[in-house]
Amino acid sequence: MREATKILVFHLVWFLCIHVPPMFCANVTYDHRALLIDGKRRVFISGSIHYPRSTPQMWPDLIQKSKDGGLDVIETYVFWNFHEPVRGQYYFEGRGDLVNFVKLVAAAGLYVHLRIGPYACAEWNYGGFPLWLHFIPGIKFRTDNEPFKAEMQRFTAKIVDMMKQENLYASQGGPIILSQIENEYGNIDKPYGAAGKSYIKWAASMATSLNTGVPWVMCQQPDAPDPMINTCNGFYCDQFTPNSNAKPKMWTENWSGWFLSFGGAMPYRPVEDIAFAVARFYQRGGTFQNYYMYHGGTNFGRTSGGPFISTSYDYDAPIDEYGIIRQPKWGHLRDLHKAIKLCEEALIATDPTITSLGSNLEAAVYKSGTVCAAFLANIGTSDSTANFNGNSYQLPAWSVSILPDCKNVVLNTAKINSASTTSSFITQSLKLKEDGGGALEDSSSEWSWISEPIGISKNDSFSKFGLVEQINTTADKSDYLWYSLSIDFEDDVSAQTVLHIESLGHALHAFINGKLAGSGKGNSGNAKVNVDIPITLVAGKNTIDLLSLTVGLQNYGSFFDTWGAGITGPVTLKGLKNGTTIDLSSQQWTYQIGLQGEDLGLSSGSVGQWNSQSNLPKNQPLTWYKTNFVAPSGNDPVAIDFTGMGKGEAWVNGQSIGRFWPTYVSPNSGCATSCNYRGSYSSSKCLKNCGKPSQTLYHVPRSWLQTDSNTLVLFEESGGDPTQISFATKQIGSLCSHV
Ligand code: GAL
Repeated sequence: MREATKILVFHLVWFLCIHVPPMFCANVTYDHRALLIDGKRRVFISGSIHYPRSTPQMWPDLIQKSKDGGLDVIETYVFWNFHEPVRGQYYFEGRGDLVNFVKLVAAAGLYVHLRIGPYACAEWNYGGFPLWLHFIPGIKFRTDNEPFKAEMQRFTAKIVDMMKQENLYASQGGPIILSQIENEYGNIDKPYGAAGKSYIKWAASMATSLNTGVPWVMCQQPDAPDPMINTCNGFYCDQFTPNSNAKPKMWTENWSGWFLSFGGAMPYRPVEDIAFAVARFYQRGGTFQNYYMYHGGTNFGRTSGGPFISTSYDYDAPIDEYGIIRQPKWGHLRDLHKAIKLCEEALIATDPTITSLGSNLEAAVYKSGTVCAAFLANIGTSDSTANFNGNSYQLPAWSVSILPDCKNVVLNTAKINSASTTSSFITQSLKLKEDGGGALEDSSSEWSWISEPIGISKNDSFSKFGLVEQINTTADKSDYLWYSLSIDFEDDVSAQTVLHIESLGHALHAFINGKLAGSGKGNSGNAKVNVDIPITLVAGKNTIDLLSLTVGLQNYGSFFDTWGAGITGPVTLKGLKNGTTIDLSSQQWTYQIGLQGEDLGLSSGSVGQWNSQSNLPKNQPLTWYKTNFVAPSGNDPVAIDFTGMGKGEAWVNGQSIGRFWPTYVSPNSGCATSCNYRGSYSSSKCLKNCGKPSQTLYHVPRSWLQTDSNTLVLFEESGGDPTQISFATKQIGSLCSHV
């Protein structure tokens, strides 16, 4: 467009915005009942899709499936560390193309809730904060601290400006009807004291000053200052009330399942319970609710938080990790959304009148003029019958019946009517590509490898007395930090020596004289590692090489940014001659940040001296493996099954598909044989996969694959057999119907 035309178009748009608001620019406001678009109250159904947890190629389909599922709004966080990995250097390409994502949502005719934060939580590395932020002198996160506030404001303003430049706010004709500042600060603000209180006031006024033209929310923030809308997050929010009668009752996170951790069983949430929670919310005056997540997706690369958040972020969401609708969850919720929308005119007209219909039975009636809608709930755990307006209604336990005309039940949340499909993984043997292009049965010869040196191998290593904290040392440039020590024993050393290591986490491998002697790992509940490893020392020089590793940085809690990781000690040798113990903690250790293979860029597969003789090392710690493979044919989503491998990270054509850890098995107990949806849900109520690896299948987005030749590179930490790796495709299976 020529400059003059651009200016003309701009003026025209501006003119239309001012003078013809309903057609082009929406005026978003709120009152006690609801959000208002151009003065009209609306009932909204929203769902979370985090754009970096899928690929741009997947976005249109995910958004369409959301629309088909009855959503009006797509909610996403903005992930600061993804967009500004180095201070002042921005990345908004590929999976980080936020503008494109927002535009695609708009193109589908849906609205956007942009949760800028910029603290996200979200089981995302470091809660979304860039690591460089931690190194700004004098900084204290999420409190009344000038350096922090300056950075938070700069990034928030940057995002707001970006959206404005593209006319993406509803006030400009775009899809964004809401923005969020901070995230659940009210849950953890106590230890921040008075400074936390003033920080929230500052955050509210800073956000307001950015003039987005649309309302801001603060979730889980009972003291959210006006005009911020304080909203609810949880498995149920029907009992929630905002902090002012002038604000609507909104639910920003209705957890559709729960996240998976390495070492944990797989959580799921029955759709009958979700539907019950949603219906109860609208029954009790709510007008906006958001599924967290509607599509969870994948923690590619090193984006997962934690520690110990798995690479899959499936979340048991209505759309599964691979982009396939999950039935009957998706379909039943779609039916529910239709039923709620049939009540919209009544819902926005008035507050409900709530009456008891008996023990655990409750009616809410929205009646105004000629419209009338009713919700009849049984919040008890046994089935019941209720009389309402002279009619008798069967009310199954833990359910809500929706009557858009106050008479006829169009839906009961416990009765699933939607036709149901299943989807399942079909294993395919890994077709390895010979140079000649043929597919091979025996794969050993098609793998090549490089051994990662044990201990110090890079010339940027450094020595220091004492043990260092890991995150301050690596700045999260790598998961890995070597702690190395060489120690001399002049005479006999006892055969029963024990190496005792205490670490803040998250896992470690101990090598004595070049051999793996033992490992230790924390878990999602307690990241700390405390191990006693029996070792054999020799007379003379001994090397102790400790590889400490992080598995996603802490993303939640008061002062979570300072919790730390790594071997901070003590490290001792117990049971030496005469039973003595020596403390090695304050010795002079040599440190190496990251791996040699990382520095060399082995993950691309295109550099490095790869060995390809026939003696492929198996079950050898610290090994890089590489192969070429043919993509499974068709368009079904693809996963790699890492059964047989230990722990590490994998790259397909240079793109990291995330950390793999199929050897981390969930506890044997805690999984109920069946999960009764009746009664209050909690994140540990319904678990499956006990005693099994938490995650064996890892998503490889189709768009990262070429039809013919692809490179797979793995870094294996603890030892595995890459020839056992297989592919799976996810296919939609048989049609069955619930009655
Ligand atoms: C909430 C938080 C989300 C996410 C969720 C659990 O507390 O706001 O970002 O972490 O918990 O999945």
